[in-house]
Amino acid sequence: MQNPVTVIQSVRLDDENDTLVLLDQTVLPNETNFLELKEMEDIWDAIYQLKVRGAPAIGIAAAYGAYLGAKKSTAETYEALFADFTKVKDYLATSRPTAVNLFWALNRMEDRFKQEAGKSVAEVKAALKEESENIRAEDEKICEAIGEHALSLLEPGWGLLTHCNAGTIATAKYGTALAPMYLGQERGYNFKVYADETRPLLQGARLTAWELQQAGVDVTLICDNMASIVMKEGKIQAVLVGCDRVAVNGDAANKIGTSGVAILAKHYNIPFYVCAPLSTIDLECQTGDDIHIELRPSEEITSKWYEKPMAPDGVQTYNPAFDVTDHSLITGIVTENGIAYAPYTESLPKMFKK
Ligand code: MRU
Repeated sequence: MQNPVTVIQSVRLDDENDTLVLLDQTVLPNETNFLELKEMEDIWDAIYQLKVRGAPAIGIAAAYGAYLGAKKSTAETYEALFADFTKVKDYLATSRPTAVNLFWALNRMEDRFKQEAGKSVAEVKAALKEESENIRAEDEKICEAIGEHALSLLEPGWGLLTHCNAGTIATAKYGTALAPMYLGQERGYNFKVYADETRPLLQGARLTAWELQQAGVDVTLICDNMASIVMKEGKIQAVLVGCDRVAVNGDAANKIGTSGVAILAKHYNIPFYVCAPLSTIDLECQTGDDIHIELRPSEEITSKWYEKPMAPDGVQTYNPAFDVTDHSLITGIVTENGIAYAPYTESLPKMFKK
């Protein structure tokens, strides 16, 4: 039977109508609403507001945005088109700072533009469309490969814990950390998945619990502060998370709270795996200290998603959207080219050579 979740296209190009179509991830699970965006400001805002979110999905959306921005340009020469494209690229690059896939996808679009030097404006636009579609199509295959590699680490009947949402809607298809759960589901593994709710924006409750439930996976929602008890009770045999940027030494930035889960997993001797496409590995970041952590507005902690504010008016807040899990806490980093183990400074660069 077709999995009803992995057929959802959370990011899609409607080229005929010059539109980026996005599944609005801020209204799930109550509404399944697709946004049709034409203006660069709206695409920027959709990324910033997390209407499209998850590192690979952000990259795909930005690539389509860069194409649509160039397509709109009335430039008549290669050079003038490049100037317009660069404006769009630089603008979209300011939407969120931590997920390296955003910059990776925009740079890849720019590289393709440069490869088309000397071509007509129409030919360059066609090449950009092709490149953005390639980025989306490749991500689907990458996630499937990550799923296969991750599944090889797991045994039927295991309890798995995940944090945030690294599922099908965060990617082109299948997800990264959720990909082995979907593959396992097809193959009768009967995993029992525990989804952290993931404060403050509840990607675990609103998105992961919804995705897995729709797909018929056995999923149990827990609050973030319940991870320790489910581990202690022996309910968890492995932790799988996605990530937004991996440094060369294996330090991995993912949704705030991930590093705490890793520390707990170490305490209870539970393997902790990070699932990451190679596009999430930043060879220019030597360690996690080089990763820019996004700070987000106070109301995400105090009032967003609540009927009434849940904190006193004017209280000081600190709202980092990501944290860095130290490489020493990570059992393995699962990429599309295989699983990297410590020492990561040696194993991660090798993954790119396969
Ligand atoms: O702020 P978000 O919701 O974009 O954060 C997303 C995550 O932390 C995901 O785990 C990560 O991007 C991997 S998605 C395959």
